[in-house]
Order: sequence, then C-alpha cells, then structure tokens
Amino acid sequence: MLIHSAAQILTLAGGPQRGSDLGELGIFQDSAILIHGGRIVELGPVEELRAAYPDEEHIDATNCVVMPGFVDPHTHLIWAGDRAEEFELRLKGKTYLEILAAGGGILSTVRATRAATPDSLLTDTRPRLNSMLRHGTTTAEAKTGYGLEIDSELRMLQALITLDEEGPLELAITFLGAHAIAPEFKDNPQGYTDHICEEMLPEVHAWWPADRQLPFVDVFCETGAFNLDQSRQILIKARHLGFPLKIHADEFDNLGGAALAAELQAVSADHLVATSSDDIRVLAASDTVAIALPNTPFGLAEKHYTPATAILEAGGILALATDLNPGTAWCENMQFVIALACRYMKLTPAQAIAAATINAAAAINRADRIGSLEPGKQADVLILEIPHYQHLGYRFGTNLVKTVIKKGEVVAGVSPQS
Ligand code: NIG
Ligand code: FE
Repeated sequence: MLIHSAAQILTLAGGPQRGSDLGELGIFQDSAILIHGGRIVELGPVEELRAAYPDEEHIDATNCVVMPGFVDPHTHLIWAGDRAEEFELRLKGKTYLEILAAGGGILSTVRATRAATPDSLLTDTRPRLNSMLRHGTTTAEAKTGYGLEIDSELRMLQALITLDEEGPLELAITFLGAHAIAPEFKDNPQGYTDHICEEMLPEVHAWWPADRQLPFVDVFCETGAFNLDQSRQILIKARHLGFPLKIHADEFDNLGGAALAAELQAVSADHLVATSSDDIRVLAASDTVAIALPNTPFGLAEKHYTPATAILEAGGILALATDLNPGTAWCENMQFVIALACRYMKLTPAQAIAAATINAAAAINRADRIGSLEPGKQADVLILEIPHYQHLGYRFGTNLVKTVIKKGEVVAGVSPQS
C-alpha cells in the first residue's frame, strides 16, 4: 500500500519527546509512505515511490493529514452497567469521593461487573472498542479493577486477553485489583492491601499465560482508596514478582504518589492534578511518563487540570489519555482529549499530538513498535480529513478521522480511493 499526496505526513520520528522537545512532529510534505507486510517500509518523494512501486494499492490522501494511530495509555474500558444517576447527583453537589465513601462510585460498578457473565462483559465492551477505533485509537491500555476479588479480576483479565486477540485494536493490559477497597474489607484497608500482596498478585502471576508479557500493576493512591504506604507495599510486591508498574497519583489529593512512581521506576504516573512542585521535579527528572487525563476534571466539572507547563519546564515526559471509565469520563475519543489539553493545559496542538502518539506509546512500553511513522515500525496510520495538523485541537466534538489503518489494513472509516 502506498499512501501519497497528503497535505502533511506527521512522522513523530525520533523517539519519546521530553520537556521542551515536546511537539516535534517530523512533518513530510510531497511525500508518500510505503506499507508492506503490516509495517512501514519507506517514506520518500511521491513521484519516486509511485514510479518504484506501480503495483502497490495507491491511496490518495490529498487535502488530508496522515499521522500515527493514537495510543490511549490509560483506560478502564471494561465494565458493566452505567453511572448516569451518579452524574446527576454530582450536578447537585455531591463529590466523587463522597459518593465512593457511601458505597457508590467505583463500588457500584464493581457490583454490576461481578454480576455480569463473561459473555455480557465482552458484548458491553466491544462497542466502546469500536468507537475508540473509529476515532483513531489503534492501541490502548486497559485495566481491570471492577472485580476486587480474585475470580472477578481474573475474569476481567481473561476478557481483556480475548478482546486483544480479537483485535484489530491492540490492548496493553493492567491488573488494578487495588482500584478501591473491596467491600469484603470495608473497614480494613490494610487487610485488603495484605490480601492483594499475599494472595492476589501471586495468583495473577501464576495464572497469567506464559507466552504473554506480564501485565502492568496499578494502584489508586488516593484518600478513600490506598494511602502512600499501602500503595508502596503493593507496588514493591508487584515489582518483586516482575510486573511493570503504574500508579493513579494525585487525582484529588496530593499523597505523594508521583514521587513514589519515580522512586520505584514505574512506567507511568497518571492524573497528577494535585501534585506538589517538589514531586513534579522528582517525577520530571525520572524516566516515568506523566500521563494527563483532562477528560477527568472536565467530566467532573472541576477547575484544576494537570500542570503540564510545569511538568514540561521541569523536563518531564508528558502523555495524554482518555481515562475512559463509567464514573468520571465515558469518552473514547483522543481527539477530544487533545482539544481539552490545548485549552486547559495550554499545550499547542503539536505538543498534544506528540503526547497522544509517541509519548503515549512510551507510557505503555511500546515506543519501539508504535507511536510514529518510521521504517520498521508497525503500520498503524490515520488519515484525517483536515488540511493542517493544527485542526486537531482547534476543532472538537466531531470525528476528524477519515480512515484508520491497523497493521497495514484499513479497519475503520472510509476505504480511500486508489
Ligand atoms: O481514573 N480514579 C480512579 N479510577 C478512575 C475512575 C473509575 C471510576 O470512577 O469508575 C479514574 O478516574
Ligand atoms: Fe483511571
């Protein structure tokens, strides 16, 4: 397949982008991309490549922007039920943490997810995956965390493996048994922490298929969930078993999760709304990717967003994700995340695009394979119906993706004319 004549090809070449380097799009014009065997083979002048490969399927991308598929590095995409009633409660003044403390919130989705059959979990989740794909996400991270006891958590892990194998969207799976205090341990958070460390993590490790890389282990380090010591205990145990680490840090309160992530060399620290300046410095000096989730404050109608400018000034690696979940952010669309990040985190469209592609790939340890258009990389490619990359961010609320190509095959949108 040869994609040619795009107004701009954004390659994002050169690896993850730190601090003030964020926003290097590596733009090619008057160029074409040759894709073969699901990989990018060559980028070069249109006429040269057309002449050299006359038998390839030719895709005309005139007036369009071509770029890598979005990588969404933080989602809770598998759950049962919904929380529309809670949305109304919040509009009337109840806070997210108050609803959780009263046994609602995450715990209400836990009740629905525990009661769901494996089949209905898959049936409920597939439309969300399709929506992600249509909006240009070609790889996503996906967490468990609505089971909170071993059998339900393993059911979620199995469902995620099944969905990843079905494709075409690829999933990077995370075990989030530490998403909330399980109802069985209601007044005993330390008991549940010990149970995760002594029972659940070893069971997940033993159960996990040997031919797959181990999943990430994540913890919700927050008031009303796991405190800093409990988060540390869980992450250290996980690291000891060989799991790569993630953490939900400082979504509402500054408990110190961001510095903990840096100390334990977590792959990412996510949310980072209430993070202190000291912790921003520590995190930004590390290789841990800072994932901002602007859908979440937007979804909760809150004023404070991740301080992206401070993270970048301190030299951090910043990525963007949807946080897709039934409580705070039922939104599958990375284009909308970019639009929010430009307005409320003051990123330029170029910075937001890099944060949603190559840096997002780094946030799930896959920057060697996806996130940019470079020879040898997987051909996960978007064709957007826009004349200039700035339209991403500038425009919002409609889908700008015309065609989605995954591993060299058109999988969503309009199949372009040859
Ligand atoms: O990242 N904060 C914890 N987890 C999710 C919300 C999940 C839910 O409310 O169901 C988040 O925002
Ligand atoms: Fe989350």
